[in-house]
This record gives sequence, C-alpha cells and structure tokens, in this order.
Amino acid sequence: MKGIILAGGKGTRLYPMTKAVSKQLLPIYDKPLIYYPLSILLLAGIREILIISTPHDIGNYEELLGDGKALGIELTYKIQSEPRGLADAFLLGEEHIGDDSVCLILGDNLFYGQSLTAILDEAVRQLTENGGAIVFGYPVKDARSYGVVEFDDFKNVISIEEKPEYPKSKYAVPGLYFYDNDVVRVAKGVLPSARGEIEITSVNNDYLARGTLKVQLLGRGMAWLDTGSPDGMLKAAEFVEAVQARQGFYISCLEEIAWRRGFIDDEQLRALGEGLSMTEYGQYLLSLLEN
Ligand code: DAU
Repeated sequence: MKGIILAGGKGTRLYPMTKAVSKQLLPIYDKPLIYYPLSILLLAGIREILIISTPHDIGNYEELLGDGKALGIELTYKIQSEPRGLADAFLLGEEHIGDDSVCLILGDNLFYGQSLTAILDEAVRQLTENGGAIVFGYPVKDARSYGVVEFDDFKNVISIEEKPEYPKSKYAVPGLYFYDNDVVRVAKGVLPSARGEIEITSVNNDYLARGTLKVQLLGRGMAWLDTGSPDGMLKAAEFVEAVQARQGFYISCLEEIAWRRGFIDDEQLRALGEGLSMTEYGQYLLSLLEN
C-alpha cells in the first residue's frame, strides 16, 4: 500500500501565522505538525509516501524530511499548483499509486490512542484482502465543519454530507482514508462542488453507492484533534505536552516508530540520536536503545 500526505492549501483560516509558512510546518508542541500524520502512515507499515504541497512550500518539506532514507522509507514530493480539493491527491498521485492501494492522510490531522496501531493494521489487512474503501467516523460535539455520516435506523450508513448546516449525526469523517486502486478512476469522475473543490466526500459517496465503503466508528479512547484554529493548535500542543510529560513516551516520534517497525536498526537509530544529542529529542532517541 502507498501513502499520500496532502499538505497544501492556503491556510487562510490561520493568517497571519500561515502567511509565510505552511500550516503543516507549524509546531505542535515539539514537532512540526506534519510529523503527526506522517507517523500514522509509518505505524500502518506504509513506506512509500508522496507528500503534496504548494509551489511555495514544497521545498521546505523536502528540507525537513529529505528522501526518507534515514527512516528506512521512501519520500517523494509533488506540487499542487492550486488547492483544487482533497480528491486531487489521487490525480496528482496517480503515478505514485501505480497498481497499488493507497492511504491518504491530511497533513493537519492528529490522531492518538491505544488501539490505533491495531486499527491501522486491520484497515490495511482488510483493504488488501477485500478492496473497496475504509473511512472512519468519530463523534464530535459540533460536526458542521466536517464530512458527516448519516445512518438509517439500523445503523447502516446511507450518506456522507460535506459540511452540512444541520448534521444528521455527530460522526465526523476524519482525514484518514484507505482506498483500493479504483480511487484514481473515481477521482477522475468527481465534479467540483458548489465551493469549487473536488471533494473527498464525493469519492466516498461513490464507493458507498457501489456498496464498497466501510465506515468504521472510533470510540472515545481515541483522540482526533483539530488543528484548524489557533485555539485548536494550542489545545493539541497541550495534549501532546501533557501525555509526553506524564508517560515519558513521545507522541509521533518518527525515528522511534521507524525503529520499532523494523525500518531501521539499532545502529541507525543511534546515529540519528547522536546527531541530535544536544537536544532532549536526541536524548530520547538514545534512551530507547537503553531500555
Ligand atoms: O479534517 C477532516 C475533514 O477534512 C473532513 O471531515 C472533510 O470531509 C474534508 O473535506 C476536510 O475538510 P477541511 O475543511 O478540513 O478541508 P480543508 O480544505 O481545510 O483541507 C484539509 C487539509 O488539506 C488542509 O491542511 C489543506 C490541505 N489541502 C486542502 C485542499 C482543498 C490541500 O493540500 N490541497 C487542497 O486542494
């Protein structure tokens, strides 16, 4: 399975913070925001990842993350000249996807929770065996700014609506999506919505209409944090700080995940830790080898 991170967009809702710097490069406590979604792809065992961003920002992502070799993964980059919509990821990513299935994650989505690795492993397994699409439903107090799942009386999914004024449930669809290879064809057929974007929700409704969309509901043990406002970013940073300070484990430490997943060995982790040994982050990497 291939991975795609969509890290473009204008970030206008966060101006002036994002006037000169891409939103997904801004810090959430001790790491750039993009580390969090990238860590999810690594946790899912996905090693070939395409990062999509704007002409202005793509170079900064390359500078931050390089070709991925240090993490035992392969990172490539593609420019999105205009924010045409989330489904554009599959048009821009067609060559990268090739004959494979794909997981798309939005560069500003942050997930954390105990059963996350198991959920990701299971999604990859199911998709590889059965094809179709898998998305998630997450309960939120106010679902109006998301894709929202509508259920019938028997809890069957009957539609997904993008940013409805009157949400038909409290289940929002987070920015983490798994698709079989058909997604490229489906995305090519999506017409722009009223706001002029080719919507991921249209892709999901296409799979739904063909009976091949699975919506897996996530429980309250999972954190899916919003980074769409200064307040959301602050709360996300406080969350990361609180968990890390209490447990001593880092959230979304790419080097640690690559090492635990067996993408890099002890010596490679040691070299990464030594390169940053003047920082707490580097010390943390070195401490992993001792415990
Ligand atoms: O976060 C989950 C939500 O993400 C879903 O529930 C919605 O169904 C989905 O449409 C999306 O809604 P947003 O309003 O959050 O989408 P937004 O336009 O903010 O884009 C999400 C991220 O993707 C953002 O960091 C910018 C980036 N982006 C967006 C567009 C439209 C791109 O890189 N390229 C694009 O063309």
